[in-house]
Amino acid sequence: MTGELERQVVLITGAGRGIGRAAAELLAQRGAAVGVVDVNADDALAVADAILAAGGRALALPADVSDRAAVLAAAERLAGQFGPLTGIVNNAMWIRYGAVEGVEEDVLDRMLAVGVKAAFWGTQALLAHGAAEGGAIVNICSPVADLGMANTASYTAVKGAIGALTRQLAVELGGRGIRVNAVTPGAVPTPGARAIVNEDGYAIRRRQTPLGRLGEEREIAAGIAFLIGPDASFVTGEILHVDGGISVRSM
Ligand SMILES: NC(=O)c1ccc[n+]([C@@H]2O[C@H](COP(=O)([O-])OP(=O)(O)OC[C@H]3O[C@@H](n4cnc5c(N)ncnc54)[C@H](O)[C@@H]3O)[C@@H](O)[C@H]2O)c1
Repeated sequence: MTGELERQVVLITGAGRGIGRAAAELLAQRGAAVGVVDVNADDALAVADAILAAGGRALALPADVSDRAAVLAAAERLAGQFGPLTGIVNNAMWIRYGAVEGVEEDVLDRMLAVGVKAAFWGTQALLAHGAAEGGAIVNICSPVADLGMANTASYTAVKGAIGALTRQLAVELGGRGIRVNAVTPGAVPTPGARAIVNEDGYAIRRRQTPLGRLGEEREIAAGIAFLIGPDASFVTGEILHVDGGISVRSM
């Protein structure tokens, strides 16, 4: 498949479903070779198969992103098949909401491992198996990193860290030509989100979103594709809100 991303080799975590899957499919449609990382091996294989069937380039890479060695091994395999990585999308997340007094240590540890530590491992994977010059990292943030929301303390801690890390790494890695950006999705009814947000919650989100509707996975993927690709060659340290305007609403 040819397209504006045909020179890109991109590892996408949590690409077995939801936003990650949409990103993998869009990047592949635009010519990128994509590594489909997911802890759910069946989902990773299904997404890679679908991309291959559509004429794209993909490799299923079942892995738990909280495992540093597994992430580095996935990047090595992708580079072995398609050449040095040009980008990574740190998208995987595992979420539990709940009041702060009830946050349990093992749950918090898991969220920090999948949400924060894995972004370090993804970054290290790009540095170890990336092209000699340049590269792009896209992290996935959240509106909760900008504004408070009840019962999301653990998730907010993860995404707040991701926002700060995005800006920090843009500074640290800019000298090597590596751009580091993030996308903040608005409310998108993915399988994962539907497990923690009910219909009443979605009704509130629709009302609060200036565009008056929920987002679609492909709309978030479009933001990711922009930041991964050459059109964003002078963009770094940016947190791109693809959120229907929910983050700029005061009341
Ligand atoms: N959907 C939304 O409304 C929304 C809003 C803001 C931010 N986000 C962020 O977007 C990203 C994608 O979310 P989504 O809604 O598509 O979620 P999702 O739960 O539908 O998909 C997440 C994927 O990550 C995988 N995953 C979970 N733990 C993993 C691990 N340890 N190793 C590898 N893979 C793992 C899951 O198997 C799943 O395929 C997340 O970072 C999320 O925080 C989503």
